[in-house]
Amino acid sequence: MTHSLLILPGDGIGPEVMAEVRRVIDWFGAQGLSFEVSEDLVGGAAYDAHGKPLSDATMEKAQAVDAVLLGAVGGPQYDDLDFSVKPERGLLRLRKEMDLFANLRPAVCFDALAADSSLKHDVIAGLDIMIVRELTSGVYFGEPRGITEMNDGSRVGVNTQRYTTDEIRRVARSAFELAKKRGNKVCSMEKANVMESGILWREEVQWVHDNEYPEVELSHMYADAGAMQLVRWPKQFDVIVTDNLFGDLLSDVAAMLTGSLGMLPSASLGAPMANGKPKAMYEPVHGSAPDIAGQGLANPLACILSFAMALRYSFNEGAAADQLEAAIQRVLAAGIRTKDIAQGGAFVSTSEMGDAILAELGKGA
Ligand code: IPM
Ligand code: MG
Repeated sequence: MTHSLLILPGDGIGPEVMAEVRRVIDWFGAQGLSFEVSEDLVGGAAYDAHGKPLSDATMEKAQAVDAVLLGAVGGPQYDDLDFSVKPERGLLRLRKEMDLFANLRPAVCFDALAADSSLKHDVIAGLDIMIVRELTSGVYFGEPRGITEMNDGSRVGVNTQRYTTDEIRRVARSAFELAKKRGNKVCSMEKANVMESGILWREEVQWVHDNEYPEVELSHMYADAGAMQLVRWPKQFDVIVTDNLFGDLLSDVAAMLTGSLGMLPSASLGAPMANGKPKAMYEPVHGSAPDIAGQGLANPLACILSFAMALRYSFNEGAAADQLEAAIQRVLAAGIRTKDIAQGGAFVSTSEMGDAILAELGKGA
């Protein structure tokens, strides 16, 4: 079976980290897995070429493949662009039009990095939690939105937090399904104390639990308290399900628990396609990091781990995913570090990290 993959490296460190992923893909290709890989532009790179952060042709390709793998979008040179053509709009269009409502952000602390975190060792050693972020609705997409001028000349900026029953229920189901395969616990986070959309969120998640997943343990937390608990004792959580904006914030917090934003992958999944596989896009949680772009300083592991998630969730190649994750563990255990996880010590470049992963994969093969 041939797996089709559209690669969108994007901006900043996106192309550098993606170059290492391509080497990993080629390695698995040489081992007998079959990939049909195409590459295209997104974000500022697409704007430079087409005047839009995602062309219609690229959008069509994304809809047709088994999985999309995206690097990162954005950069200071695009700060003054009109909002509608900012690099981020390309990413948000992909998420929205592919209807990728469930964004899985696993925060796993690799043993070798447990000592390097800014948190105490016992707080994060062995950490393995999954944040499920709703990705296609909420304040990111709600209408009305915009900046308008008032009669007195002052301006008002508006965004709308909006969730429907179905939007909440489907992402809740994703969280419960994942929990069943993990620690069987879901914690739902919102601000039901101040937001009606939070009240609805809480009621609907509870409804899905009571009617469809009574065997999974469910708790609710206000998102601010959740942020505090994530830093205080993250191992109390198994699966966290939350809305688009809270999920954006909480997943950055969770990423730092693992040592670096450069370690955290993500999968964005939608409904099953005709072939039974979910619509899917995989991307590292980190951004385009323009301050270090082009210097060989970027950590490619989040992007490589995102490809491992593609192997697992889109290509049904769980054994290959395990093999890749194990190789990463061994490389880290050997003390090989990119700058972000080197704690001021010796570090290797982006491509040297790629070399190390390939060498380790070679030993296991
Ligand atoms: C993320 C990013 C994006 C988001 C940006 C780049 C639009 O921060 O994926 O977490 O806000 O969703
Ligand atoms: Mg974010």
